[in-house]
Amino acid sequence: PPLDTLISAQDFEDVARRTATKKTWAFYSSASTDCITRDKNKEYYSRIWFRPRLLRSVGNVSTKSSILGHSVGLPIFVSPAAMAKMMHPSGEKGIARGCHDDRVPQCVSTNASFPLDEIIPSVPKEKQHPFFFQLYVNKDRAQSAKLLRHVRSLGVDTVFVTIDGPVQGKREADERVKADESLNSPMSGQKAKNDRRGGGIGRIMGNYIDPNFTWSDFAWLREHWDGKIVVKGVQCWQDAQKCAELGLDGLTLSNHGGRNLDSSPPVIMTLLECQMNCPEIFGKLEVLVDGGVRRGGDVLKALCLGATAVGFGRPFLYALNYGEEGVRHFIDIIKQELEIAMALVGITDLSQCDAMYVNTAELDPF
Ligand code: FNR
Repeated sequence: PPLDTLISAQDFEDVARRTATKKTWAFYSSASTDCITRDKNKEYYSRIWFRPRLLRSVGNVSTKSSILGHSVGLPIFVSPAAMAKMMHPSGEKGIARGCHDDRVPQCVSTNASFPLDEIIPSVPKEKQHPFFFQLYVNKDRAQSAKLLRHVRSLGVDTVFVTIDGPVQGKREADERVKADESLNSPMSGQKAKNDRRGGGIGRIMGNYIDPNFTWSDFAWLREHWDGKIVVKGVQCWQDAQKCAELGLDGLTLSNHGGRNLDSSPPVIMTLLECQMNCPEIFGKLEVLVDGGVRRGGDVLKALCLGATAVGFGRPFLYALNYGEEGVRHFIDIIKQELEIAMALVGITDLSQCDAMYVNTAELDPF
């Protein structure tokens, strides 16, 4: 269907389900074992209710914000996702070209299908949106140190260290469809292959990740990276507190879109848990979230609960089905939905986001 007939994230997903190759759909859409967490990530947003305040003059709404020191047109970012080329030949470059109008930050995965030094220049310098780099720590630490040096030399100031996948989840839909063995990711040096467990791209291309990386290794990371550090994949308040204690710049509450530990909690529950148990961290570092966000209204809910910004994983891959135009169109949809939700809740600026605009009684864990 023509791009302008698509008006929601769900529309892009429906088209991708019908038109992507079997393998692309299996890899992108899959999650681990029974996909409970993937589905609840989304469903739990619907358990939060708004508490609108009316008659407040909302004719002029701004979605402008900032993420990790960068000004942005709206408080969203591209969550790192491997192998964007499977959806469209432009891959991560297409995503980049779709992002710059609203300065939507793009976090590029270690497992991207293009190297960062090809992705960044695909957007003219004067138009560039912020690029972040997502690091999977290699068992061979020298490889990671070299990669970090390279990334820093390209002007990237923030690294996201993913911690929720010391091993990869069992993603059955992905295992069941044979992988194209010519598929490779240049920055990790990994290649897809099939083995007796199946053709799972996540599992096979992630087998270099160090399962023994621990909190004490952040000292090693600081030796090799003098920029900002964000941990990605925090799933309980104690680990969130740990990030603040370590003096990190941010954390992402995330369960990898349900792709690693199934039955890990829906992300919005973890956000609530942090608000209740360690509210002080919100003033110390930026708390980002990703997983199951599909609407501008979801973005507003997360911000009212203290998140600085919200990442989208699969939706950007599905939007890339239409190349950079699809990505641009998708961002526009989310921006418009966010503007509408803000006006109807009774705020005109995101600095007014506050817990009083949401009722979380259905999610209250206590
Ligand atoms: C991911 N994700 C991910 N995360 C990461 O830190 N490094 C990576 O290489 C990848 N790769 C990846 C591939 C694919 C196909 C998907 C769908 C996801 C996880 C991603 O960053 C994010 O946490 C989730 O996708 C968020 O959930 P939603 O928005 O997809 O529901």
